[in-house]
Amino acid sequence: MPRIPEETIQQVLAATDIVEVVGRYVKLRRAGGNFVGLCPFHNEKSPSFNVSPSRSSYHCFGCGAGGTAIRFLMEHDGMTFVESVKRLADAAGIRIEEEVWDANAEKAAKLRSALIRLHQTAAAWYHQLLMKSPLGEPGRAYLKSRGITSAVAKNWQIGYAPGSPQLLRQWAGENRFSQALLLESGILTENERGAYPRFRDRLMFPIRNDNGEVIAFSGRLLQADAKAAKYLNSPETPIFSKSKVLFGFDKSRRAISKAGQVIVCEGQIDVIMVFEAGLENVVASQGTAFTEHHGRLLKRHADEVVLCFDSDNAGLKAAERTFQILAPTGLNIKMVALPQGEDPDSLIRKEGADAFANRIAGAVEFLDYQMDHAMANPAMEQMGERVRFAEKVAANIRLLESPMARETAMQRVALRLGLADASIRRQVGAGTQPKEKPSAPGAVGDRPGRNLLGSQDKTALLLCRMALNKPEVLKWLRTVDRPDLLSGLPGTELLGLVWQGRFDPMDATSMSSFLATLDRNTESALTQVLAGAEPKGGLEDAQQALASLELLRMQTQIQQLQTQLKTHGLPADRAMEMQRKVISLQKEYLDRIRPEPDSG
Ligand code: CTP
Ligand code: MN
Repeated sequence: MPRIPEETIQQVLAATDIVEVVGRYVKLRRAGGNFVGLCPFHNEKSPSFNVSPSRSSYHCFGCGAGGTAIRFLMEHDGMTFVESVKRLADAAGIRIEEEVWDANAEKAAKLRSALIRLHQTAAAWYHQLLMKSPLGEPGRAYLKSRGITSAVAKNWQIGYAPGSPQLLRQWAGENRFSQALLLESGILTENERGAYPRFRDRLMFPIRNDNGEVIAFSGRLLQADAKAAKYLNSPETPIFSKSKVLFGFDKSRRAISKAGQVIVCEGQIDVIMVFEAGLENVVASQGTAFTEHHGRLLKRHADEVVLCFDSDNAGLKAAERTFQILAPTGLNIKMVALPQGEDPDSLIRKEGADAFANRIAGAVEFLDYQMDHAMANPAMEQMGERVRFAEKVAANIRLLESPMARETAMQRVALRLGLADASIRRQVGAGTQPKEKPSAPGAVGDRPGRNLLGSQDKTALLLCRMALNKPEVLKWLRTVDRPDLLSGLPGTELLGLVWQGRFDPMDATSMSSFLATLDRNTESALTQVLAGAEPKGGLEDAQQALASLELLRMQTQIQQLQTQLKTHGLPADRAMEMQRKVISLQKEYLDRIRPEPDSG
């Protein structure tokens, strides 16, 4: 349970716009008073993820995830409760007193924030070396040779890592960064002879997370050197995972959402050049293949991907791999084939930004491109070759998420290859469309809230929903002073919370402050109830529901007593007392279920 003062949490939640917080990660569209989007916690094709500004909470009808803005950051970014409250507090300009927390979580959070501070400081240092220091001269000359202006270098905080280990050591000393932390970050690496800087005499590109914090570096050689890798990346660390990050995404997210389209390049210099040419909806993976995680991230913001890959065989292979990862998310995938040996950077420099924008506008569906490319091969004159190729394309069509997209793709392939419609259809049908994949690691796997909700008594749940939706029901319920009524009655936990709670469900801040005091399961279960439709019925129905719960409790109690009475060795007086209790309960029960004496 939180040890940050309740008032502070309340204050933070009151100052937080949940739509804004969630909207940073999920493309939301207004639907009545709420907002809906694709759930970031499980893989889905149609939106079942709801955000309610009036309740200051979110809920996914698909996977059961739900809660306040605090919970959202905890689940989405793996933050601790305190980190999450702090993040929201920072954004709202509210100060929070430091307190002592769970030792492990605290340690992990400390390490993460130390690593981020290290990277931020290092990025500033490398940048300043590149821009101002005499040592940065080789870096500046290199920038110039590539046509990167100093305004652009500044915007992307490009830097220069000098060759000298002494310089790094001195800088670390001045900033009190320990050798252990530097090793953990990968800024230092080590061999048998000791620790030394990983990046030496390289142009440094800071890699940022969604929040724009520097979490890693990519360093490029200044001179071609057959012995060294052209690009060197930071290793995986607690703050950096290559399979999750997209270079440039923190800057381009807004433009991606606005355009509903994302341009995907292969290199970071390409991203920078395309972005600076005015096409700001651009990203690259960090020198690795695209992952499903990348796919889901993009799908939350865009409907269409334009792959800008080289037109040689290697480029086409890379594009096909990317297609196969991204197609199942439902993203529409287009391709711009760049002339042999060119990349977006070289093309923009050669032809200018407008010509490049035209190429993007002329992007073709990936499958069409794949066919065009294949048909250029004279061997395709032969039927056998075409059939082989058709099998390959069919496998790709099968990956398309929308049945409509599959349908049109099949027709185009048949037409293009001069094969019968039915034979393509058979090929595609040979493997059926994969069902929704189980959520990826890191996503909500155990469907929080589901179990708790499923275990709730139906009548109790109905009463709970009525109380949350109808002020008069809640008002009445809270005047019913019967703390015993639910005791020993399984499946009434949520009702108990609503009954005994002091929050006002019609008040977003009050509601979310209450939610923030609950454990994950209870929070998402209650959010789910809140997100549900308003139940029918009025005060009388609610009273009836409570009465039937009371009957249920009596029945349960009678049964329990009878079971206990069967146990051997019960002291006689105790047994007698229990027997009497059973009889009086049975009598009371019968009185209650007997119809009211007719007044007519
Ligand atoms: N890359 C990498 N390690 C390498 C080579 C490349 O991680 N040894 C990644 C980098 O992110 C690079 C991308 O793959 O940006 C594309 O590589 P490539 O096309 O070779 O480089 P360019 O982006 O064209 O880089 P440059 O223009 O600087 O030569
Ligand atoms: Mn290049």
